[in-house]
Amino acid sequence: MARVTFQPGGVTVEIADGATLFEAGAAAAGITIETACVGKGTCGLCRVKILAGAEALSSYTDEEERHLGNLYHLTRVRLSCRTRVSGDVTIALAPRPARGPGKPR
Ligand code: FES
Repeated sequence: MARVTFQPGGVTVEIADGATLFEAGAAAAGITIETACVGKGTCGLCRVKILAGAEALSSYTDEEERHLGNLYHLTRVRLSCRTRVSGDVTIALAPRPARGPGKPR
């Protein structure tokens, strides 16, 4: 079993080894991970920030690089539906940054 703790609030859920952080979010009362593709890796909305336990996570995927770029070492943000867990981790929801007025799309 793996344990995923959501901050702030400290809600902790136990999930099977190899399950995704997205599945942990679905199992956690009061936690809603944003999604449009329901875990298929195409919408890029299910962002979470890794606060602790990164060594217990699967490798960064091509889908993550497409949606998040190659800045994980700075942002610590992953796509929850692409990230499998094999130990204890602590995460926070990381909504997509809003685009401000005047910024190019
Ligand atoms: S739920 Fe859409 S990319 Fe993860």
